[in-house]
Amino acid sequence: MQSFEENDARTRRAAGMIGRREFLRAALASTGLAAAHLSGETLSGMGPFAPGLIGARSSNRLAEGSALPAKTSAITPNADFFIRNHFTTPRINEEKWALEVGGMVEKPVKLSYSDILLASSERRPITLECAGNLSGGAGVSTSLWSGLPLQTLLKQAGVQPGANTVIFHGGDTGEGDGVPAGTHYARAIPLEKAMDPTTLLAYEMNGAPLPPEHGFPLRALVSGWYGMDSVKWLTRIEVSNEPFKGYFQQERYVALKSNGQREPITRMRVNSKFVRPLNDEEIRAKEYRIEGFAWGGENRVTKVELRFDGNGAWQPATLSDAAEAMVWTAWSYAWTTPRVGQHTIEVRATDDAGNSQPLARDPDRKDDYELNAPHRINVNVG
Ligand code: MTE
Repeated sequence: MQSFEENDARTRRAAGMIGRREFLRAALASTGLAAAHLSGETLSGMGPFAPGLIGARSSNRLAEGSALPAKTSAITPNADFFIRNHFTTPRINEEKWALEVGGMVEKPVKLSYSDILLASSERRPITLECAGNLSGGAGVSTSLWSGLPLQTLLKQAGVQPGANTVIFHGGDTGEGDGVPAGTHYARAIPLEKAMDPTTLLAYEMNGAPLPPEHGFPLRALVSGWYGMDSVKWLTRIEVSNEPFKGYFQQERYVALKSNGQREPITRMRVNSKFVRPLNDEEIRAKEYRIEGFAWGGENRVTKVELRFDGNGAWQPATLSDAAEAMVWTAWSYAWTTPRVGQHTIEVRATDDAGNSQPLARDPDRKDDYELNAPHRINVNVG
């Protein structure tokens, strides 16, 4: 049996050669996309939500605090995209899989994988950040996602008056670490965000079918919101008029204040990171180009600044492109290196709503989400 990586590379080559839609049609018509796409051991222990689950494998590729590889383009290759799973990865047979849209709708809808692939789709770059990412951490990546706008499906189903919430149910289940037995991953977003044209049901990542770890066959992509709402391995979308009481909605991804106040985590906060140099890097050049990314969730990054050795004024960096909302922006700074020795560099970004990264974490916060104090690195100038 081929490894996942071999299959993934083959799938990508094939997609590049014959064009996306033709490739999808051909794959569906012949051996089935899953045969080219799935691999790995088949385990038992399926959850009750997805009749098509055929196994599971656990993985988390987050490496909190670790640096990105030195060469990082604006689009993250699939193999380098961070992974954050609460449970083991369900293996889904797309021929048995279906997506149900129900709850407060006029006509419940059920779609097969081929229905999804043949629906009219959009492709857009979107940056996803895990709510638990550390400042400068690896829990943020950008992909070119293809899928259908969720609003298309909701309009087709007909949302009933009074509905205000859309719940995404994932096909992964588990327990332990405080999670009650039989819990499946599910999250809810307000109807208004669900109807935003940038909220997608994505089936492709950088032109290839979603890799199993990233939600094959279909995931939500809630642009500009922290990653926890971009539910993977979607099985059911439920429209409701009540606050969702699922475990991952109420017990996780909540901002906790010292006075006991609790608020849900939603929109991504403005943030930035270095790509080069890496922490503790030795720099010998007199002129060094510092590079990184900055992102502002639903807002657009308008300014990136650097500070050296913890004092003095913040210096403006150059934004490489016209920055857009929902996707990170590359920036650079031409640094004339100072005297030999160890130096500290910090980066902070500001968005078009005037939010800047706070210089320190709010001491009133008792949780570990939304960590967006400036990324700080040490370098040795030799
Ligand atoms: N969806 C399901 N079904 N199960 C999960 O554990 N993790 C969420 C989200 N969607 C999760 C999920 C979290 S916390 C994040 S940050 C993103 O997926 C990560 O997506 P990725 O692994 O594709 O990077």
